[in-house]
Amino acid sequence: MKKIIRNGTIVTATDTYKADILIEENKITAIGLNLDCTDAEMIDATDHYIFPGGVDPHTHLDMPFGGTVTKDDFESGTIAAAFGGTTTIIDFCLTNKGEPLQKAIETWHEKSKKAVIDYSFHLMIGEINDEVLQELPRVIEKEGITSFKVFMAYKNVFQADDATLYRTLLAAKEYGALVMVHAENGDVVDYLINQALAEGKVEPIYHALTRPPEVEGEATGRAATLTGLANSQLYVVHVTCAEAVEKITEARNNGIDIWGETCPQYLVLDQSMLEKPDFEGAKYVWSPPLREKWNQDVLWNALKNGNLQTLGSDQCSFDFNGQKDIGRDDFSKIPNGGPMIEDRVSILFSEGVKKGRISLNQFVDISSTRSAKLFGLYPEKGTIAVGSDADLVIFNPNSKRTISSETHHMAVDYNAFEGMEVTGEPVSVLVRGEFVIKEKQFVGNAGSGQYLKRKKYGETSLIED
Ligand code: URP
Ligand code: ZN
Ligand code: ZN
Repeated sequence: MKKIIRNGTIVTATDTYKADILIEENKITAIGLNLDCTDAEMIDATDHYIFPGGVDPHTHLDMPFGGTVTKDDFESGTIAAAFGGTTTIIDFCLTNKGEPLQKAIETWHEKSKKAVIDYSFHLMIGEINDEVLQELPRVIEKEGITSFKVFMAYKNVFQADDATLYRTLLAAKEYGALVMVHAENGDVVDYLINQALAEGKVEPIYHALTRPPEVEGEATGRAATLTGLANSQLYVVHVTCAEAVEKITEARNNGIDIWGETCPQYLVLDQSMLEKPDFEGAKYVWSPPLREKWNQDVLWNALKNGNLQTLGSDQCSFDFNGQKDIGRDDFSKIPNGGPMIEDRVSILFSEGVKKGRISLNQFVDISSTRSAKLFGLYPEKGTIAVGSDADLVIFNPNSKRTISSETHHMAVDYNAFEGMEVTGEPVSVLVRGEFVIKEKQFVGNAGSGQYLKRKKYGETSLIED
């Protein structure tokens, strides 16, 4: 059945205006004032914003990591994402050395069958050899996976060497993909961890102290240099600190095709959280780690001035009881990551728009449009336009709520923002014209999310709407 959303204020990455939206067969088919239509379900959006559904470029659902598996799978994780106003995620498909890439992709297709919102995959590259090089064109053409992730950290687990990164950059240039890096100097981090443990320093704070900002800045600069040498393209995930922002800014000023993402936790939380008593600091263990508070201004300014462009959740959730506590006697064993998928959009709106740090249109760009463009999903995703998928968020900009694990929809037993009040929340969320959240109630179906094959890097305009 047709739907018409009336009286809302449409907000895109470039425009804010009042109009009605007509939805037919999953798509937006008309936008205009007082649209003439009597045979459609009417949705009243008076006093509400209508945003394009959020595009979260960075999630880890149902992922084995740190001796355990992330708590949220594709069902609970995407339900939580939908409550938070996200309608598309791009999850990281892990590969194993010596195994065909296709095998890993099949595993991820299997895991993601219960998604309630649309999804795609980035592919981890842990090694480059003849087999991998042979498979890459098929991965791009047949699977529509047009972004490759290289870890510069997590020694002896995911870490790849510089030659692998360089060869991945060359292959990405040739085939039309975007390379993503986790930028920390894993060798130096490994040395610092061993040194700390040898000195009996086992508490969560040493997670942060053994991954200082310099190792993130160094790796970011190295990746940028290799990108320039390969004349390729790079996206730096989860940027946390001034050192990394400086390297990205410098590279962009030198004409290198490099983009940067930060995450809600780095905008709002800081290193002191890792010092909470009774091992509670483990709830705040991410890699790279939370930084000294002054870095938050650097990140907000970079989002505002365009040197960072996107906000990923880096959703990678583990229960405090039973998972994080694997590292109770040794910080290096605490599973890295946290639950962020649900509050990503709210935090950006409340802390960003409401506090005057970014504009409303920048908010849409950072939470949705730019990721859709960079990762080959635009204009089907990431905007409100005739012909786009009807992925829409009807958002009350003035309602207030307090974030809590007691009310969140993620499967984990804590929320890193527990007790924080945010202004603005999604009321209803549609994916391809169907309600997934209606008046704050989940009405979707497990498995209704669609796998998205993506366009090659640069096939959609990256700058203009
Ligand atoms: O601590 C983090 N960020 N966990 C998720 C894995 C990663 O490095 O992105
Ligand atoms: Zn990472
Ligand atoms: Zn991640």
